[in-house]
Amino acid sequence: QYPLPIAPVKQPKMTITNPVTKNPIDYYEINILPFQQQVYPTKGKANLVGYDGMSPGPTFLVEKGRETVVRFINNSTLPNAVHLHGSPSRAPWDGWAEDTTQPKQYKDYYYPNSQSARTLWYHDHAMDITAVNAYYGQAGAYLIHDSAEDSLGLPSGYGKYDIPLILSAKQYNKDGTLYSPASETTSLYGDVIHVNGQPWPYLKVEPRKYRFRFCDASISRSFQLYFERQAAAGTKIPFQVIGSDAGLLSSPATTSKLAISMAERYEVVFDFTNYKGQNITLRSDEKVGADTPYLNTDKVMRFVVSNTAVNDPSTVPSTLRTIEDLPVKDGTPAHHFKFERQNGEWRINGVGFSDINNRVLAKPPRGTVEVWELENSSGGWTHPVHVHLVDFKVVSRTGGENRGVQNYEAQGLKDVVWLNKGETVRVEARYAPWDGVYMFHCHNLIHEDHEMMAAFNATALTD
Ligand code: C2O
Ligand code: CU
Repeated sequence: QYPLPIAPVKQPKMTITNPVTKNPIDYYEINILPFQQQVYPTKGKANLVGYDGMSPGPTFLVEKGRETVVRFINNSTLPNAVHLHGSPSRAPWDGWAEDTTQPKQYKDYYYPNSQSARTLWYHDHAMDITAVNAYYGQAGAYLIHDSAEDSLGLPSGYGKYDIPLILSAKQYNKDGTLYSPASETTSLYGDVIHVNGQPWPYLKVEPRKYRFRFCDASISRSFQLYFERQAAAGTKIPFQVIGSDAGLLSSPATTSKLAISMAERYEVVFDFTNYKGQNITLRSDEKVGADTPYLNTDKVMRFVVSNTAVNDPSTVPSTLRTIEDLPVKDGTPAHHFKFERQNGEWRINGVGFSDINNRVLAKPPRGTVEVWELENSSGGWTHPVHVHLVDFKVVSRTGGENRGVQNYEAQGLKDVVWLNKGETVRVEARYAPWDGVYMFHCHNLIHEDHEMMAAFNATALTD
């Protein structure tokens, strides 16, 4: 077993001035580079492609309101498109799938960072090859901080008591190289669970509280996470969920199990105080949704708690922030979207992304609140649905194998929602702040690459 890697913090190259507002903009450069990594000690190296030649890519730490421009230089052999997942970026910098950057070219992306503190992540979104690019390594964390959150006294310090845990699941060939998802048309669940790029790692911790930022960057695998003492397997230890896709919850949600599907983020505070000198394992249910449960996919990582008591000044306040309620006139869904499988293709209401004349499925007038009803009508599959640009509230879960809306979903805002087998979920969002054509899609990246993606046009005009 190997220690948990923690991605370095990305440093700006220089500070420039916004020509319009005169605000400072931090300018960064990221190189998309092939690299190799010794994953199996006794086999050949794995072949990866990552931001700055690492995976996960370097972590951005950004203060709310501080604008950034990131130049992504494509030094790989495939086209790329970069999406800052969870950011209300203007359409030209949102990573539209067809807006690809070819090898040896670059594109500058502008991000306003106007949101409250939250865990965003950046990953590839290129047409038809998103699964391949993300799986080989193009994903990283992008954390926004703000003073309201800083003043709460939560466990803090990137890499110290505030730690990203980016989950992924992969499959290797006998020679140690990665098995490619390129020819898959349904899913690649993967039998090796990685955290921050390392299979089944461990982390040495002090007996105190830690903030963990989970992000499921797998292309097809979901998790139902729980903590247990290695010496007392089977007893799940309760922990607090403090944040989700759109940052802090209104108040902490206590749970002993956390369901997380692709692209979802959950922030958790786990208290190791009572486990001095013990091992705590992070595991996932053996069978999750429709995923294939290979051997050892129920194991995630281990925490090794040191023996010496420490002073822990951090706290988890009972109120974290106020989340504005969305005023909706009546709860009638403006749209009903069926996530389905037709003739071997994945579609939304019968439409696939390549159907360019029909793929704009909604035109919410900018600034209005709409309820969308998302139905999983594809039998045994699960689909985590992501809507770009907005944060939404999960209103209800009905039908199929639904677990009900969990406390950690209800007490915050999301940008991805997991549709379990046969389930119908309602989500409510304000289609703002910008006009523009944005994507929404299934975040099983193989489904996304095989047509399960459409668009909406947030528009101020009727057209
Ligand atoms: Cu995380 Cu449309 O993507
Ligand atoms: Cu799907």
